[in-house]
Amino acid sequence: MASTKVAAPTIRQTNMLIGGKWQESLGGKRFPTVNPVNEKVIADVPDGNEADVDAAVKAARTAFESGPWNKMDARDRGRLMNKLADLMETNLDELAALETLDNGKPIRDSKTADLPLAIDCLRYYAGWADKLSGDTIPIRGNYFCYTRREPVGVAGQIIPWNFPILMAAWKWGPALAAGCTIVMKPAEQTPLTCLRMAELAQEAGIPDGVINVVTGYGQTGAAIVKHPGVDKIAFTGHYETAQKIMVDAAGTLKRLTFELGGKSPNVVFADADLDAAVAGAEFGLFFNQGQCCCAGSRLFVEQPIYDKFVDKLVARAKTRKLGDPFDPKTTQGPQVDSDQFQKIMSYIDKGKTEGAHCLTGGTRFGDEGFFIEPTVFANVTDNMSIARDEIFGPVLSVLPFKNADEIIERANSTYYGLAAAVWTRDVAKAHKFAASVRAGTVWVNCYDVFDAAAPFGGFKMSGMGRECGEIGLSNYTELKTVTMSLT
Ligand code: NAI
Ligand code: MG
Repeated sequence: MASTKVAAPTIRQTNMLIGGKWQESLGGKRFPTVNPVNEKVIADVPDGNEADVDAAVKAARTAFESGPWNKMDARDRGRLMNKLADLMETNLDELAALETLDNGKPIRDSKTADLPLAIDCLRYYAGWADKLSGDTIPIRGNYFCYTRREPVGVAGQIIPWNFPILMAAWKWGPALAAGCTIVMKPAEQTPLTCLRMAELAQEAGIPDGVINVVTGYGQTGAAIVKHPGVDKIAFTGHYETAQKIMVDAAGTLKRLTFELGGKSPNVVFADADLDAAVAGAEFGLFFNQGQCCCAGSRLFVEQPIYDKFVDKLVARAKTRKLGDPFDPKTTQGPQVDSDQFQKIMSYIDKGKTEGAHCLTGGTRFGDEGFFIEPTVFANVTDNMSIARDEIFGPVLSVLPFKNADEIIERANSTYYGLAAAVWTRDVAKAHKFAASVRAGTVWVNCYDVFDAAAPFGGFKMSGMGRECGEIGLSNYTELKTVTMSLT
């Protein structure tokens, strides 16, 4: 990537999309989205209220029930999805810059990770649009019995701010392929790229009402969850929000899928390729400013290599380049907002008072924006807050362990179960760990390897259901059994 600073993008769209029209909120209110680099307002977007949500749900219902989307030839649906992916690729530089502006993530990540993964996800699911087939079932008696996979209906999709474009693609891809229509609420911290994607979806020719975007805070999300015209909720965010969503969705028994947080164990055995494991530990935690649901935030290192490993890790953490995310050399930008910044700083304080050793970082970087120095805590014990709670920031806890038997129990001693990783040259040890750890994804000698085809989601309080892959599509379908008499 060239070393010159990338220019900030032009903001094209700051209204929300309901039934093909770009609108203000019916309540007339707007709210600001803030640049985390300098804490200045970037733009104002509508604060969607219940009436706006109602209008969006009605538009989505109409598009579902009488619009062309789910009745369209499935191959044409796939073609329109591919067209959206193509338009995102054509406008990759602009979308990446807008993502960096709104979220603060380094431009090199927006360009080489977020955008390519999002485009790939839409293309992957575009390919599924015409491959949703049912079964023929040999039942007792003189009958012909078969199943059909039909779209679940209107999908309410509520996403967070850590990967705004990618989360939108993970949600739109399977919903559109299945023939569902959508009411999406992007996170209040990062609404801009979702609005731009919705513009591109219009340009691609996806019919009015198929994708509706309502901007707003949590209460806008809650209005979507409670609305009787919504059939399913797909949510990514905090488990406490998911708990509220379950309660709010109970009245209408909506289908629910959740992708929540984690405290993922990253386990390094003494026989591992040390440098690869150090690099994996750094990437697995500090990528995206530590704002990853699957961050390897509990780093367990086997005792014989513990000291050497920690030295190398600290040296590596110190090489991270903080600063202007529009500089292609920057590897770490600011945290997304002041709430996240405060939360992380309070965990750093807790780590220090609970007796962990802060070997590097532990402070704010600069005096403007929400930057935090890459922080490594050693001598962490299992019961400390920094080893138990999701911090969602650039704070890595390193814990020593004795042997393979002990580590499984400690790795599983958490209410989360999103991801885990193991570093070893011993194949049997790797498989044993993979089979015993209670987590939805296990990486062996790698970290954060994502693919639209590979299911992702959590055990325990890290989620319900899976996204990506064929199973991600199934969550947007209802199975219908048809039985016909042959007499
Ligand atoms: P959050 O769960 O409050 O927000 C995520 C989305 O849910 C946003 O769009 C928000 O407006 C919406 N929302 C909030 N309350 C709602 C409600 N009652 N009904 C429906 N929608 C609602 O997460 P927040 O406050 O942004 O971050 C808090 C913590 O959550 C983070 O520090 C991190 O630990 C975790 N988190 C995990 C994520 C993940 O990828 N699993 C992503 C973002 C946050
Ligand atoms: Mg919140």
